[in-house]
Amino acid sequence: MAEQGNGEAFVAFERVQKSYDGETLVVKDLNLSMPKGEFLTMLGPSGSGKTTCLMMLAGFETATHGDILLDGVSINNIPPHKRGIGMVFQNYALFPHMTVAENLAFPLEVRKIGKAEREKKVRHALDMVQMGEFGNRRPAQLSGGQQQRIALARALVFEPELVLMDEPLGALDKQLREHMQFEITNLAHDLGITVVYVTHDQTEALTMSDRVAVFNDGRIQQLAAPDELYERPQNSFVAQFIGENNTLEGTIQDIADGRCTVRLDGGELIDANPINVTKPGERTRVSIRPERVEINKDRLGEGAHTLKAKVLEFVYMGDIFRTRLRVAGKDDFVIKTRNAPDQVRLKPGQDIEIGWMPEDCRALDAH
Ligand SMILES: Nc1ncnc2c1ncn2[C@@H]1O[C@H](COP(=O)(O)OP(=O)(O)O)[C@@H](O)[C@H]1O
Ligand SMILES: [Mg+2]
Repeated sequence: MAEQGNGEAFVAFERVQKSYDGETLVVKDLNLSMPKGEFLTMLGPSGSGKTTCLMMLAGFETATHGDILLDGVSINNIPPHKRGIGMVFQNYALFPHMTVAENLAFPLEVRKIGKAEREKKVRHALDMVQMGEFGNRRPAQLSGGQQQRIALARALVFEPELVLMDEPLGALDKQLREHMQFEITNLAHDLGITVVYVTHDQTEALTMSDRVAVFNDGRIQQLAAPDELYERPQNSFVAQFIGENNTLEGTIQDIADGRCTVRLDGGELIDANPINVTKPGERTRVSIRPERVEINKDRLGEGAHTLKAKVLEFVYMGDIFRTRLRVAGKDDFVIKTRNAPDQVRLKPGQDIEIGWMPEDCRALDAH
């Protein structure tokens, strides 16, 4: 999704490319612009170029081509410590021989801030992450979660306008991770700082961010708000990468007025919403979310095409039922239904019919 930087952007990547070896591009053509105060997440599989982008923004790597702008000014020639950017990494990177308070004072000393002012800021930053009592401890005397809080406080202590975080919660257990996700987003919004956050965890990206840039193979595949990304993926990669998703392969038969019919490879005909397909005969992968599949025919529009399905497995999950079906020759078609008082509990071996509203079934590229 090409998006040009403009005068109002706080952070902008313009046609940025990066090669480490002078041959292969690991960042291919990055265009991205962020307003001040935004929480933007770069989400993508390992090796897709996320860390490289963050390192270029921080100034630890240089772009092979293109421009990176901060507040409208190209920062290509400004060294890292002059960019006024706070950073948090996965492995805390606290100085082990210093106390917590000394760790926090360090970025202030580098910036030549006087002792009294330093102590005030350190106290404030520690209070912000609820670690006010821990100033005299050394990192080894803290739990992983506490160390990560200190790393966060250290990134915020000099009041940067921009903070970069690279998988900062990756080393924490699930419960602590969810708690910290909440703390980080609250803190960022309260302080009004702009955040570029990197993760390969889609739930983290969806729950924390104003917008998410989905990376694959050195390119942004889609840049959108979480609900838009989940409900309106623009290509097969994004549909597969974000959330659980059923896919069926086939060929476009008819296409008109924002609707298409697809002849599945097994012979069945279905209704779909043409997203990046344009003409009959074209190969497509249709994508439908498990919670958008209807098993009650009365709830489908008139003339809707339905598919025969066989129930293979029923899993009771408390709040929802997760049922696996055989559909169009595939054994991995999943539907999710809410555990409402009148909800049917399907049984393995049962034959049913399924369908959907055509707008919920997206005909995407066949790649
Ligand atoms: N310092 C480096 N030297 C050479 N190649 C690198 C270096 N850092 C990353 N790469 C390569 O660049 C690609 C993108 O890596 P990276 O930006 O770390 O991806 P991500 O953070 O999405 O996992 C990978 O193929 C990786 O091997
Ligand atoms: Mg990385």
